[in-house]
Amino acid sequence: MPITGIYGPDDFAGRPQGQIVTPRVQPTRAGPVLPMPALEWTSAVERATAPLYERVKHVIPPVEWPLMAPTIHAINELKRERGAVVLAHNYQAPEIFHCVADIGGDSLQLAVEATKVKANVIVQCGVHFMAETSKLLNPDKTVLIPDSRAGCSLAASITGADVRLLREKFPGVPVVAYVNTSAEVKAEVDICCTSSNAVQVVESLNAPTVIFLPDRYLATYVASKTNVKIIAWKGACEVHERFKGEELRAYREADPSVQIIAHPECPPDVLAEADFTGSTAHMINWVREKRPRRLVMITECSMADNVRAELPDVEMLRPCNLCPHMKRITLSNILESLLTSGEEVTIDPALAARARRSVERMINLKN
Ligand code: 13P
Ligand code: SF4
Repeated sequence: MPITGIYGPDDFAGRPQGQIVTPRVQPTRAGPVLPMPALEWTSAVERATAPLYERVKHVIPPVEWPLMAPTIHAINELKRERGAVVLAHNYQAPEIFHCVADIGGDSLQLAVEATKVKANVIVQCGVHFMAETSKLLNPDKTVLIPDSRAGCSLAASITGADVRLLREKFPGVPVVAYVNTSAEVKAEVDICCTSSNAVQVVESLNAPTVIFLPDRYLATYVASKTNVKIIAWKGACEVHERFKGEELRAYREADPSVQIIAHPECPPDVLAEADFTGSTAHMINWVREKRPRRLVMITECSMADNVRAELPDVEMLRPCNLCPHMKRITLSNILESLLTSGEEVTIDPALAARARRSVERMINLKN
């Protein structure tokens, strides 16, 4: 069914005015600054990184590898020295995702894996809310993000005060927050969800109506899959909202055999054209299983590179929308983060305790 109502900052007269900004992580350091290693393309570096190049040879030209390999090698050495683990989202560039990450995945997989990390230091290659989620689930670890300006248009669309206003307007209606929110918002809601489990989380509440925030399009998708009435928030992903149904129809007209898969953050006219809709991990699994000859992946465009590196026989047509926030994470600032222990993610302990409850409630849901 369609969503029951949609609200945004302009719908609350008493709302504190001013632009919402993603809270910036305090640029603190969690340890001593280590000396910069020599970043030279030597035969030793070439030998040590050859197995890594095998993984990305279909998406990184040989001429570019000598420029990247010394930094990749230095990061991998430093990880071992410092007892650090690198978590990378599926949208990270292939040289990060396939060559320096210890664990890669979608938001749900990264949150679950974060609970199992034994290392003392986590370097989060993803956006700010992902690093916050890792810190919530691992309060005793040092969580670093290579660039704390890596935000998210969804997380920036809503504050904790907005959630309190929604609760006043709809007393007793449970609130589900997409993990693409700040810890401050997570602290105000009943449970979190990701795009992998949004329908399951909404239905787990056994309520006739649920407030689902902040993504209006994910809310619309969830509403189409359940009988629970959905009240939404006017947030959107700046990357996925740019796709248009008509561009997908043009791909199909050019080649009717093409397969199209899309992320549920896309608008409904885009999802209506897709053969499959799912989280980034569900999309990857779909490609691994179906092995389509020609594929259009309607999501952030580094993910198509990461899949092509693994499955070069799948021809990727790429309407390329990059997430500028994900792209703030680079090999250089991952190395710098390991050398300087910056920037450390910290969350007020009282706020963290409330926010953690919402994330853990999601993780503990039975499959
Ligand atoms: P996934 O949970 O599907 O990885 O999505 C996260 C995200 O930010 C998509 O834009
Ligand atoms: Fe946020 Fe969209 Fe970037 Fe994902 S792709 S991190 S939802 S802005």
